[in-house]
Amino acid sequence: MNLPVKYRPKTFRDVVGQEHVVKTLQNALRHKKISNAYLFSGQRGVGKTTIARIFAKGLNCEKGITPEPCGKCEICLEIDSGNSLDVIEIDGASNRGIDQIRELRENVRFMPVKARYKVIIIDEVHMLTNEAFNALLKTLEEPPENVVFIFATTEPRKIPETVLSRVQRFDFRPISESALINRLNFICKEERIQCEKDALKIIYEISEGSVRDAISLLEQAYIYGDGKIDSSTLREVFGILEDEIFINLFEYIAEEKPSDLLKLLRDALNQGYSLFDFHKGLVKAATSLMEAILMGEENPYSHLKGKFSEIDILYIFKILKDMEQTLRLSNYPRPLFEYELLKLAFIKRITPHGFSINNDNGHLSKNNQSLEKIEDKELHKKGEKNSTSINKLIKELNLKEVKDGPF
Ligand SMILES: Nc1ncnc2c1ncn2[C@@H]1O[C@H](COP(=O)(O)OP(=O)(O)OP(=O)(O)O)[C@@H](O)[C@H]1O
Ligand SMILES: [Mg+2]
Ligand SMILES: [Zn+2]
Repeated sequence: MNLPVKYRPKTFRDVVGQEHVVKTLQNALRHKKISNAYLFSGQRGVGKTTIARIFAKGLNCEKGITPEPCGKCEICLEIDSGNSLDVIEIDGASNRGIDQIRELRENVRFMPVKARYKVIIIDEVHMLTNEAFNALLKTLEEPPENVVFIFATTEPRKIPETVLSRVQRFDFRPISESALINRLNFICKEERIQCEKDALKIIYEISEGSVRDAISLLEQAYIYGDGKIDSSTLREVFGILEDEIFINLFEYIAEEKPSDLLKLLRDALNQGYSLFDFHKGLVKAATSLMEAILMGEENPYSHLKGKFSEIDILYIFKILKDMEQTLRLSNYPRPLFEYELLKLAFIKRITPHGFSINNDNGHLSKNNQSLEKIEDKELHKKGEKNSTSINKLIKELNLKEVKDGPF
């Protein structure tokens, strides 16, 4: 089926999101103000190649340079099918060397075969070697007429400043939940796929705003679900635990029930979920908890307001970070993961009032108020005033002093 290919937009109108890019490019076409080089940066699957091809049609359509290419003329059709001799797509990852770029420089010296402009789309341009970039730079400094470069990248930081300063740059954004779900709904209708509303939400979350990922997931789930997509099928395929599990989990933490907490994890593992699945769900749940407690958002964790302090929340995230490290680095991830989970169960004891966590090393520290009290006691005992007593005490207790507040 390959739905992502089938549903690649062929006109600017069909592009989802990226309004800022589409509008600027259409204006450029309308006013015939064409740059020699563009950079399209952004995460995978958000429309960089798609828009590059539509722009190439706008430059070359037989109608004339146009913000609305016809899609029907020979040139538009050739570009759509990838058969145009004048619109050349190069994969920067497999053509990274100087020789390939030299070849390209030779090629762009010739006039376009049929079209108005030669359009050179270099994908993953950040993969080019330094020498290749330098060779490219020479072309960008004295650009041949009738050539437009479009560089696409998921990692703009790896592109040399010298190149960046010679291109017009567009930062593509992840697609919003509502726009992406609209698109998925449209595809479901066209393909007569039955899909639950909740399932689309789950797909959006997994795809992290990438349209290609979302459509591929839809396709995968459709095949797996034998024509129907419901949220339970999706959970099975992609290892997503129910929210309810994590709501229970934070209730157990609030009530200090370590054995229930462990049982919850083990039940999930027994059902075939991995530690990674569990951790991923936990991070998402902790984020909702944080939003309920620190930002007053109404969500399934709102009833836990008052049970966790701000410091508790910070410490929960610290433990989640340690869990991730355990998962990535340990030879014995499971027992160590369980140990971290137990720390969550005792979070109230770990972060009593007056303690805080040092951001750099995760050690517990005492805040100024508590330290002063301890200092008074110390002075009383020793009967002397010692300005360094706090420092000494910190050393003795092996604590780290918090200088600019806890974080
Ligand atoms: N903005 C969008 N609107 C509609 N569909 C899109 C959009 N972005 C991506 N798609 C869908 O995803 C597929 C891949 O998109 P595209 O090739 O443009 O992504 P890309 O940004 O170039 O990704 P990569 O960095 O992986 O090359 C398209 O065929 C289309 O189905
Ligand atoms: Mg691409
Ligand atoms: Zn056309």
